[in-house]
Amino acid sequence: MMRPFGSIGALAAVALLSGCERYATPESLRGAGEPIALTSQSITLPDETVTLPASAEIVTVNCTACHSPDLILSQPRLKPEQWQAEITKMRSAYKATIDEKDDGKIVAALLALQK
Ligand code: HEC
Repeated sequence: MMRPFGSIGALAAVALLSGCERYATPESLRGAGEPIALTSQSITLPDETVTLPASAEIVTVNCTACHSPDLILSQPRLKPEQWQAEITKMRSAYKATIDEKDDGKIVAALLALQK
């Protein structure tokens, strides 16, 4: 089978990788040509004990990817506009991808949770 771009691709990859090596591992940090030893670590996270009720599914879906439900449930009682400000903050400060058309439903679910 013909692979007209095979050797060009390989050349491009070599050029790319040599660029990475130059910036990521300066010669001052390791001997030239020495292999890099990669290691992995393991940690034990605390068990998640608090879950939200099924009625608050919209909160689970939009809010618990980044932090635990407990963080939400442990807040003082907030007014609707304060919850709205939280949602807006999650979106602007932490880049949460919460659809703006869901804001009203999320605020209602958050209010119901603190009852
Ligand atoms: C993209 C990630 C992300 C999403 C999604 C997200 N948050 Fe957060 N949230 C954060 C981060 C980061 C913090 C700061 C955590 C810290 O200080 O430990 C935070 C903090 C909070 C706090 C603590 C008070 C504060 O303002 O710092 C509350 C309450 C909160 N989030 C509620 C929500 C709610 C409600 C939703 C869903 C509508 C949500 N979050 C979705 C990232 C997110």
